[in-house]
Amino acid sequence: MRRKLVAGNWKMNGSAESIRGLLQGIREGAPAVAAVELAVFPPFVYLGLVEQQLSGTAVAWGTQNLSEHASGAYTGEIAGPMLQDFHCQYVIVGHSERRTFYGESDQIVARKFAAARKLGIKPILCVGETLEEREKGVTEAVVERQLKAVLDSEGVGAFTDAVIAYEPVWAIGTGKTATSAQAQEVHAFIRRQLAALDSAVAAQTRILYGGSMKAANAGELLAMPDIDGGLIGGASLEAKEFLAIAKAGC
Ligand code: PGA
Repeated sequence: MRRKLVAGNWKMNGSAESIRGLLQGIREGAPAVAAVELAVFPPFVYLGLVEQQLSGTAVAWGTQNLSEHASGAYTGEIAGPMLQDFHCQYVIVGHSERRTFYGESDQIVARKFAAARKLGIKPILCVGETLEEREKGVTEAVVERQLKAVLDSEGVGAFTDAVIAYEPVWAIGTGKTATSAQAQEVHAFIRRQLAALDSAVAAQTRILYGGSMKAANAGELLAMPDIDGGLIGGASLEAKEFLAIAKAGC
């Protein structure tokens, strides 16, 4: 049985003050949605605050990115061992905003995935097609290519302690959600890719949906057999909304 994971990707939002309030709300509401695992992904500079506020609670935390390198002359980068200092359980890799705005290739993403796993930090690997790719009918080919880069270098066993997030780029921050049937179709495709290599790993790997997920559509999406949670952007910035999404998965 795969326990659902509802993860809040805060992106480049928040302040010390707003994050304190958000964390307080999440802390207070978490026990009522304990059937679902919760995790939050703040900007790096608020990691200490998040660790301080969430230690001893059931809510996990991590970051939105990490360097593929462990240390060295990489100005402006943050390394995996630094995330360990803040006891991060998860890290998001290959978010479409990183791929698009910061030129992260499938190979860079695969190296980041490997860097996280080496340290025992669970990567959440994001995959997903653009609107143009969907309209061209190459959604599966794109997702397969993104997945294959990691499978080729790390092997299917690496997914035992990793998470996949299917995030159609055209649904991110646009208010346009994939229908539950559209999402389920791609999630099932992803699981089949894993199953072709190892059916036990495929059965246990959590595949999250991301892209304008909110309380109003979460119930329908989370009811799908291959949707094991959500990676939530905008709707994770309000405790009430974030918790309502988790509630829909209970
Ligand atoms: P959104 O973002 O929920 O604001 O669409 C999801 C994501 O990019 O992880």
